[in-house]
Amino acid sequence: MLTLLKLLKDGRFHSGEALGAILGVSRSAVWKQLQRLESELGMPIHRVRGRGYRLAEPLQLLEAGAIMSLAHGSCWPMFISDSVDSTNAHALRLVEEGVVAPFLVLAEQQLAGRGRRGRKWVSPFAQNLYYSLVLRIDGGLRQLEGLSLVVGLAVLQALRDSGVSEAGLKWPNDVLVGPRKIAGILLELVGDPADVCHVVLGIGVNANMRVAEEVDQQWTSIRLETGELVDRNQLVAHLGGVLQSYLLRHQQFGFAAIQAEWEKNHLWQGCAVSLVAGVSQIDGVVLGIDRQGALRLDVAGVENTYSGGELSLRLRDDT
Ligand code: ATP
Ligand code: BTN
Repeated sequence: MLTLLKLLKDGRFHSGEALGAILGVSRSAVWKQLQRLESELGMPIHRVRGRGYRLAEPLQLLEAGAIMSLAHGSCWPMFISDSVDSTNAHALRLVEEGVVAPFLVLAEQQLAGRGRRGRKWVSPFAQNLYYSLVLRIDGGLRQLEGLSLVVGLAVLQALRDSGVSEAGLKWPNDVLVGPRKIAGILLELVGDPADVCHVVLGIGVNANMRVAEEVDQQWTSIRLETGELVDRNQLVAHLGGVLQSYLLRHQQFGFAAIQAEWEKNHLWQGCAVSLVAGVSQIDGVVLGIDRQGALRLDVAGVENTYSGGELSLRLRDDT
């Protein structure tokens, strides 16, 4: 089915007969695959009698060559797949197999994209970025401190540079436009964090997605915000450059040097919030973050700090 999609990617008309000849299948088999493209990948297809089939709009696929030249050669070795379970899971398998970090894993589609706390990340074909960068950490815990927040800042900058000027951060690492989520970040770690380990920086950015009924909260995409079709190869190249410079700053000066910039971009700074951990809930007002990236809350006049992957922040008016 993906081979057929690639034949149609130019957005021009192709006859069923010509497509069947290239694929070595009958016209009715082509017709069945086209129906699957529409139903399974959500790719609208136009049919015109006498002319054939074309995609409703041309499709741009990820290409290592294009990414490398847009990044002027300054990018990590990359693995690009049409379809994977999760780029984070695939990256962890490559670490297991002995692939030397740093390296980047990208995919056109994730069949089991993961969000935080076992949630699902909706990942339709060729529309968004599913991006996992693997780093080897041998500097101990300090190199991990606040790392996911640093990634958030890099993603935020890449989004702003793509024209999404209203984007901001929500602790710990969501990127939102108002109440709508535009990007999510999931860090996964293997090895001994106090000694040598590998960390996967998993980033999902909604680039061209315009419909996604399965997403069960408010969301948006660069295209919905700017009205422009996103060149995803350009976005990968640009995000890579921004990430490189934030990671270098973090490595050289530690998270403390980035803390103030993060707070400046926190959408919920000073807001009344509830911090939810399983069934328990703490109400407070956001003071900011500390030098390790933990959340600082004023809880009934007392400052408390909170960190950990299981925590979830809600605006109090929302609850
Ligand atoms: P938090 O729990 O940190 O307050 P959250 O409610 O966004 O934030 P996460 O676990 O961070 O939860 O993210 C997973 C959630 O993101 C999913 O449950 C789903 O509602 C939403 N989601 C899934 N796919 C997408 C997507 N492509 N774009 C935006 N949101 C998505
Ligand atoms: C979240 O907000 O819950 C985090 C979402 C992270 C999604 C990205 S997409 C690339 C990488 N691979 C995954 O399976 N998840 C992350």
